[in-house]
Amino acid sequence: MATLNLFSVFIIYFAIVLRFVNSQGLEVGFYKKTCPNVEKIVKKAVVDYVSIAPTLAAPLLRMHFHDCFVRGCDGSVLLNSTKSNQAEKDAIANLSLRGFQVIDAAKSALEKQCLGVVSCADILALVARDAVSLINGPTWQVPLGRRDGRVSILSEATTNLPTPFDNFTTLKTRFGSLGLSVKDLVVLSGGHTLGVSHCFSFGSRMYNFTGKGDMDPNMDQKYIAQLKTKCKPNDVTTTVEMDPGSFKTFDTDYYNLVSKRRGLFVSDATLLTNKQTKDYVLAQLSSRGSTFFEDFGVSMVNMGKIGVLTDKSGEIRKKCAFIN
Ligand code: HEM
Repeated sequence: MATLNLFSVFIIYFAIVLRFVNSQGLEVGFYKKTCPNVEKIVKKAVVDYVSIAPTLAAPLLRMHFHDCFVRGCDGSVLLNSTKSNQAEKDAIANLSLRGFQVIDAAKSALEKQCLGVVSCADILALVARDAVSLINGPTWQVPLGRRDGRVSILSEATTNLPTPFDNFTTLKTRFGSLGLSVKDLVVLSGGHTLGVSHCFSFGSRMYNFTGKGDMDPNMDQKYIAQLKTKCKPNDVTTTVEMDPGSFKTFDTDYYNLVSKRRGLFVSDATLLTNKQTKDYVLAQLSSRGSTFFEDFGVSMVNMGKIGVLTDKSGEIRKKCAFIN
């Protein structure tokens, strides 16, 4: 009888563990014993900065995405270049990232309470979540336990980050190779309800789509005319709002824009070229984004699991911009 009871306890224990531990070994509440206030401390740093400068939420969300797509979510996007090595940070796609001071503020507050415990990769995942929810977006539980990588290479960012000119097949392959689905692609693209883009990221759609001085026929031609008043040919400095009028708040407008052929990038427009992604865009449009917020949390958790270092691999950096 005693053996049976012990056996049941064992089974229940494993059921509970399995419920909370993800396939990659990440766990909601990972720091419960070692740094119980981790979520409060990170949130405070985000509130301190983002409530004063709400436009920081966009690059903070994008930073987590750019971290995860290159070498996995290992904080490698945060590392500074050294004399002998150019880091991911220096790749063109990463030059417009901002908000590193928020990560540093969270890290130094954490080091005061729990020295050497919380990874920069986990801080980034929490900051992305808190930044989104602070500007009216959804919230979700973030599985934690990532460790920090020791390697960051510029050329890997150039090769592995999706480009604004990618078509559906390329995006599907890029996302698929990292374990993300077509649904994750259309849902996470909804992050483009936030922030700004440089004119050069979609310049060819306005001025030289096929090399003959033409415009992209898959973009609303009236919208192109409006954009041309802001973006001159070969403009490398100007930025425009991706979701005009509400680029500082997280909402469901992205799908309205894409359906009207007003998404800025080829990678946005291409979501109308595949049945599954087009159906999603139209479903969010007709239901006023009924499932987008919930879907976004699920897909962010999926993205946050890419190539994570756990257990004894990697390290817990002392400062997020430097390996120990
Ligand atoms: C599907 C592939 C994607 C492509 C090709 C892409 C491309 C881009 C480009 C070209 C920009 C503008 C950069 C500039 O000109 O300064 C941008 C901005 C942005 N992206 Fe994406 N992106 C993709 C997916 C994502 C995902 C998955 C997220 C987050 C979940 C995201 C969040 C953002 C945000 C928030 C901004 C605005 C940044 C700011 O205001 O500083 N993107 N993206």
